[in-house]
Amino acid sequence: MNRKDLPIGIFDSGVGGLTVFSAIAKTLPYENLLYLGDTARVPYGSRSPETILRYAQRIAGHLTNRGVKALVIACNTATSYALRELQDVAARESIPVIGVIQPGSIDAVQSSKTQKIGVIGTEGTIRSRKYEEALQALSPEVQTYTQPCPLLVPLIEEGWTKDPVTVEVLRRYLEPLKEGPDTIIMGCTHYPLITELMEQTLPNVTFINSAVATSKFCKSELALRSLLRKEHTSPQYHFLVTDNLEKFRKISYYFLGQEPQSLELVDLTEEDAERFKL
Ligand code: DGL
Repeated sequence: MNRKDLPIGIFDSGVGGLTVFSAIAKTLPYENLLYLGDTARVPYGSRSPETILRYAQRIAGHLTNRGVKALVIACNTATSYALRELQDVAARESIPVIGVIQPGSIDAVQSSKTQKIGVIGTEGTIRSRKYEEALQALSPEVQTYTQPCPLLVPLIEEGWTKDPVTVEVLRRYLEPLKEGPDTIIMGCTHYPLITELMEQTLPNVTFINSAVATSKFCKSELALRSLLRKEHTSPQYHFLVTDNLEKFRKISYYFLGQEPQSLELVDLTEEDAERFKL
């Protein structure tokens, strides 16, 4: 197969990365896409850096063994702890690896008038301080406000995107950010599903969804490497999950607006990680 026709591999701990998948499908309508949701191990947000790196290495190995021309880490937590490591290894095979933190940070700096920027995300993402690093590097005068929101991913995975419980949990998490930032980065790929609730809770704040920025980043990276698909025919989408196939099928409806046509249950092993060991 021509390398340009290989799919872009996209992964997340669960369904959250489907927000990035959808954005890529819109920005790059002719690209074949292969999505993996590690539903057996979700959530990643409360795990140790070593564990998250190990999980990411397994997924990256599994996807590259199947054949992909690029990898998108559609998960902030995995981007925080595995981006550099995966990039180093994939560079040997000239496979670009794209994370979600840099594109989201660029968007936020451009959008914020006061340069007071909030970041909400999983405990792991916030603890890693990767957003602070990225924002500081882009604009040294940025003042950052961070808030971990560990309960949001389980609520969204449960499909409770409009539930009063989610509204109340969100209100509590966003309360400390009321005075301060004019822009808040949704630093978890699950959160765009509740953008409306966020905007209702803090109506004067701009919420940044890094999915679109990431899809544009992906497009320019592929163009730069002459990896964009030439054929302008319908692309193939294939979805992999490590557990709960039926639950994924149901929940993905909220993210994609339809059920995935081609869905497969896979097992990830230590052997999958081999290719991505440093
Ligand atoms: N969607 C992921 C993120 O962007 C992680 C959610 C989780 O597994 O905790 O951080």
